[in-house]
Amino acid sequence: MYKYNCLNPIAQVGLDKFDENYVKTDKVEEADAVIVRSAAMHEMEFSENLKVIARAGAGVNNIPLDKCAEKGIVVFNTPGANANGVKELVIAGMLLAARDIIGGINWVQEHEEDGDLVKMTEKKKKAFAGTELEGKTLGVIGLGAIGVLVANAATHLGMEVYGYDPYVSVDAAWKLSRNIHHAKTVDELYKESDYITIHVPALEDTIGMINKDAISLMKKDVVILNLARDLLVNSEDMVDALVSGAVKCYVTDFPTPEIAGVKGAIVIPHLGASTEESEDNCAKMAVKETIDYLENGNITHS
Ligand code: MLT
Repeated sequence: MYKYNCLNPIAQVGLDKFDENYVKTDKVEEADAVIVRSAAMHEMEFSENLKVIARAGAGVNNIPLDKCAEKGIVVFNTPGANANGVKELVIAGMLLAARDIIGGINWVQEHEEDGDLVKMTEKKKKAFAGTELEGKTLGVIGLGAIGVLVANAATHLGMEVYGYDPYVSVDAAWKLSRNIHHAKTVDELYKESDYITIHVPALEDTIGMINKDAISLMKKDVVILNLARDLLVNSEDMVDALVSGAVKCYVTDFPTPEIAGVKGAIVIPHLGASTEESEDNCAKMAVKETIDYLENGNITHS
């Protein structure tokens, strides 16, 4: 009988995949398998029993990969399982940047008891006028599962799309709309784009990639979206760019204290993958991978 621990709750459809060979334990130190979402595992003690960690999500930076390699613990993630959820929030983020929906809603809430709201709205609404996405250029950095979906969706909104990824897979290339321009360098993408969205993992060569040097190559008034990892953007440089107006809007899915509250920042509390569908898909995939490894020794997405 295998013991599993869920460090973060996962969707029931995933748990339903565990049959009578599996029993849940609250103790990480006695588990054969750990299912984790965002809990940080770097400081945790692992038992000799631990054979597999399945991350219900794409990024694995909350897991100490070196320690796992040393102890022979297999680590899985669930690539693509939440890609649609993230894609939809990227599109919403672009719309929030283009249209003053947040300002407008806040204004209505502040004035809902102030008499004739309809009349007041007619006078006020010019202040909330925005722009449209159609005809604007979007640069997508990273053409993995999420980047490909975002790029394709943006073409359907009438956007011109530049994609950049030095390691694009054949599979991703096939899924990519033929209407997407392949930027030869990331600098080319910076120069061409009105909107830039990042979909790469936080690695040595990507951490801090959006910094003052990168921003200096971008169009003035660019909108930058980061629903990938907070470390990809140098927060200090981003605050300076928002204050100076070099960046018109920064949409981030990471509640970074120094960014929240700066004019032009739209800070979302890490909701990219927080949809019923994405949570179900991630839970199902994480548990399937775990069972397949424990019972058949198969390794997928590790
Ligand atoms: C991911 O890496 O896919 C996300 O961070 C998942 C999540 O929101 O937990």
